[in-house]
Amino acid sequence: MSDKSYLSASYNNILVSAIENKNGLKVGLIQLNRPEALNALNIPLMKEVVDTMENMDVDDEIGCIVLTGNARAFAAGADIKEMADATAIEMQLSNRFARWDRIRKIRKPIIAAVSGFALGGGCELAMSCDMIIGAESAKFGQPEINLGVIPGAGGTQRLTKAIGKARAMEMILTGRMMTSKDMYEAGLLTRVVEDAVYLDEAIELAKEIASKPNLAVMLGKESVNKALDLTIESGLEYERKNFYLLFATEDKFEGMKAFVEKRKAEWKGR
Ligand code: HXC
Repeated sequence: MSDKSYLSASYNNILVSAIENKNGLKVGLIQLNRPEALNALNIPLMKEVVDTMENMDVDDEIGCIVLTGNARAFAAGADIKEMADATAIEMQLSNRFARWDRIRKIRKPIIAAVSGFALGGGCELAMSCDMIIGAESAKFGQPEINLGVIPGAGGTQRLTKAIGKARAMEMILTGRMMTSKDMYEAGLLTRVVEDAVYLDEAIELAKEIASKPNLAVMLGKESVNKALDLTIESGLEYERKNFYLLFATEDKFEGMKAFVEKRKAEWKGR
């Protein structure tokens, strides 16, 4: 039994809950909660977000994580007021974005449910997740150019890999905001949905994923992400090793046996 105390702990900048899922493991929900600052990502908020993701990652009752904001803003970027007086030396020494690298190590899938503004670090935070569900009226952008800087938490890399150089270059050099529809067509979003249901849709998707054999989900996520880092040769090898590894799980034997016996599989997560 993993430690569940993080679910009842109190937080200053986020809301945390676990949603029951009658068909499988629970969904961990993290809601950014600095509405007065459009969920600007200051250091204490990011600490709470990343620590909670890590807690959910080792919680054996959670199968998938949803990260969201509120209707007006997913997050309007890193906290500009916190950075306004910072010097290059201070930024280098404080290494404040190192925390973001830990998101990449989360093994369970993370779905960003985005409504309102997803700008700068907000867009980068959504892109650090594995899938993005966007409300129709959501706005995505990398406006750092208007502050005299560029994206610093992966925007130039992840956006370019997701939507290609032509469109990423335009967004990063103009700071222009794009709609969910633009971003869906460009390949950044998994789905665009009506404003009223963006969170419900993300939770439904998370529940569906959390109802699958979770070791296969974990290795599926890991393998897809490797496609962005590795050559095709190494990526195929990586995939094959993970495929073979799943033949060591009880769920593999159960899944295939259930198919042959024409019944529903009962997953053990082992
Ligand atoms: C700190 C912010 C903020 C931010 C908004 N606020 N964005 N505070 N950092 N990134 C605060 C405002 O100061 C204001 O506080 C309150 O939230 C409401 O915002 P308004 O501007 O009054 O709202 P509105 O007129 O509706 O405009 C919305 C907006 C605008 C277009 C999203 O707020 C905006 O342009 N925000 C900055 C977007 C941005 O440049 N993001 C990139 C940041 S740099 P008060 O106290 O006045 O009511 C970045 C670098 C990433 O992200 C590096 C790696 C992490």
